[in-house]
Amino acid sequence: MSDLILGIETSCDETAAAIVEDGKKIISNVVASQISIHQKYGGVVPEIASRKHIECIIPVIDKALDESGKKITDLSAIAVTYGPGLIGSLLVGLSVAKAIAYAQNIPFIGINHLEAHIYANLLEHNEIKPPFVCLIVSGGHTSLVYIRHFGEYELLGQTKDDAAGEVFDKIAKVLDLGYPGGPITERLAKEGEPSFIKFPRPLLNDKSYDFSFSGLKTAVIYYIKELKKENKNIPISNILASFQQAVIDVLVEKTIKAALKYKTKQIILAGGVAANSLLRKEIKKKANSLDIKVFYPSTFLCTDNAAMVASAGYYKFRENKKSSLNLDAVSRLPLERIN
Ligand code: KG4
Ligand code: ZN
Repeated sequence: MSDLILGIETSCDETAAAIVEDGKKIISNVVASQISIHQKYGGVVPEIASRKHIECIIPVIDKALDESGKKITDLSAIAVTYGPGLIGSLLVGLSVAKAIAYAQNIPFIGINHLEAHIYANLLEHNEIKPPFVCLIVSGGHTSLVYIRHFGEYELLGQTKDDAAGEVFDKIAKVLDLGYPGGPITERLAKEGEPSFIKFPRPLLNDKSYDFSFSGLKTAVIYYIKELKKENKNIPISNILASFQQAVIDVLVEKTIKAALKYKTKQIILAGGVAANSLLRKEIKKKANSLDIKVFYPSTFLCTDNAAMVASAGYYKFRENKKSSLNLDAVSRLPLERIN
């Protein structure tokens, strides 16, 4: 008999529910995005996000059930993100998941959001086998992780300041391009010249696997401010292409370096920035020349969704790793601390 897992995700500004069969087959996948609400603020407003989750969570779960053609009594377990993320937002999904699990008397499984991003890959790629190196790169995180076995994570390095996605969002905000900045930057950068401005590549040649993007962000903002001060024309596409290239150069270099050091033949990309086609192209080019394979999820599975939560939940369910109904939301939850 197959196992149906309901996944729930409310860690940031997406209210999402999905039903996944046996960790692989997405039966339904509903994402209610709050982008249009937060857009006018140029970023996510936590208090608004949690209120919106409260409004949306039940309709989103109902829709996921409706679209799946399954009944709530068909579910084998419920998996929900309990951290990291915005505490008020996390609490909404967590409370609803606990209530359904209790009422249906089925296992309740708390999932680390970063682990879920990694598992998004398993929904589509059967060939992935540890050990591998994973670059988790999103609006909240930029981390390089060595995965010896599933569930065993070694953090190799992470950003010391801003996450890569966060910097895409901030630069777009400064240029009044809207939120989120990643997809808009990618689109406009296609028209620009990546070598137009030589922006810094922080920590590129540093021995560690850490990242730092705030200096790059400041350099780009300063460049734009100077042009504005002098009333000069702002070459948006060239600025964005040059900025994007700087971020990607660093991400690619460090990830390849880690894969070589740890002698892995697979690199996995995860998180919202993994949707970036230049990142995908450049890392694949370099890795393939070294006989290393690169995997990443389809774009709709790179950004926040609940199918990835259900997938991670399935593997825990199979290992009988349930969570207690006392599980709390944890805003700063490291990947290595898996419940
Ligand atoms: O994983 P995600 O949906 O949420 C977090 O867990 O943070 O990632 C959202 C981030 C945003 O910062 C967004 O600008 C970025 O991913 N992003 C991109 C692209 N699509 C989304 N960054 C660069 N290029 C893209 N195509
Ligand atoms: Zn995420």
